[in-house]
Amino acid sequence: MRKFTTTPQPLFQPIAVGPLQLKHRIAMAPLTRSRAGQPGDVPTQMNAEYYRQRSSAALIITEATQISRQAQGYAWTPGIYSQEQIDGWRVVADEVHKAGGQIFMQLWHVGRVSHPSFQPDGGLPVAPTSMPVPGKTFIVDEQGNGVWGEIPDPQALTIDGIRAIIEDYRRAARNAIEAGMDGVEIHAGNGYLLDQFINSASNQRDDAYGSSIENRSRMLLEVVAAVAAEVGAERTAVRLTPMGRFMGMGDDTPEDTFGYLVNRLNDWSLAYLHLVEPAIVGTVRDEQFDPRWDAIIQQLRTAWHGVLILAGGYDPASAARAVSEGRADIIAFGRPFLANPDLPRRIREELPLNPSDPASFFGGDARGYTDYPTHP
Ligand SMILES: Cc1cc2nc3c(=O)[nH]c(=O)nc-3n(C[C@H](O)[C@H](O)[C@H](O)COP(=O)(O)O)c2cc1C
Repeated sequence: MRKFTTTPQPLFQPIAVGPLQLKHRIAMAPLTRSRAGQPGDVPTQMNAEYYRQRSSAALIITEATQISRQAQGYAWTPGIYSQEQIDGWRVVADEVHKAGGQIFMQLWHVGRVSHPSFQPDGGLPVAPTSMPVPGKTFIVDEQGNGVWGEIPDPQALTIDGIRAIIEDYRRAARNAIEAGMDGVEIHAGNGYLLDQFINSASNQRDDAYGSSIENRSRMLLEVVAAVAAEVGAERTAVRLTPMGRFMGMGDDTPEDTFGYLVNRLNDWSLAYLHLVEPAIVGTVRDEQFDPRWDAIIQQLRTAWHGVLILAGGYDPASAARAVSEGRADIIAFGRPFLANPDLPRRIREELPLNPSDPASFFGGDARGYTDYPTHP
């Protein structure tokens, strides 16, 4: 077991996030696990148990949760648009709260990263621009098995379509609070809908939602305005993946684009901003080193006026260093939290960590989900 080169102490200072008081600085990153109950993509007792086990996190951010049927892109991910889903999430939130934890829900619209089998009318997925999408998504075949599915060229959203999605975000945020969530994190990263609007590689519109940085930022900013008006800015957060390359993302001027966005997000007193280190593409390390990575995180850190969460490839030592150096206020752990339900205690006491098992990340039963052991 590698010992700390710095002490874990910086991670164990309390911090306020919106209306919440966090006991320490170790959050659980949003992790899609594709185990929602069927039919209806409804959270189950097993999902509640998984989150309850991890409620020693300073803050749990739920797996990405679709705001509508149109917003879904992968099999068996949970939603927050039906009454059954609200009721299922209420059990999750109650279990986490009873165990002393706090929980934000990540709100998700995948945009073009979808498949007609998920769309309400069997139609094409929606996007800022109709163009080929590099990547596949995970669908259910006629036998009920999960298989990789080709992504068709999506349909470009109309202005009415954009307005309808903003309303879906607003309703989903209200539903999340009704389900007992402490707040919501708007997922604007990883190549999904809001990221597709932001990045020049995926947005070739020539109306108010495309071309200039201001226009490409408009969709996210309108979603933030709607959600913050609905549930309060102090219960609203945003996740961005600047310079991420997952699902064909790329921007001509990332420093300017994300710099503008973060400055505009300062207009609200949001709960926090959550950035993923650009060295992570989706769920794995990016092998193409770009020297601007580190600089953009530092730039956005300086520009942002509120609480900053960073995620992506952290271990206990690098997390403690990042917080003590002021690179971040809070570190969100993904794979380490997935595999270590008692991660904060293990970090505090410098205990060994369970390795995570990628074969059981997505789909399946309790194995690789609720059976990772706590430290004796
Ligand atoms: C199984 C798995 C599922 C993920 N699902 C999501 C998700 O639903 N939403 C999201 O924003 N990021 C998601 N991510 C990215 C993580 O939140 C995190 O940024 C990434 O794993 C890097 O952090 P880590 O090195 O601590 O694992 C996922 C990652 C993994 C491994």
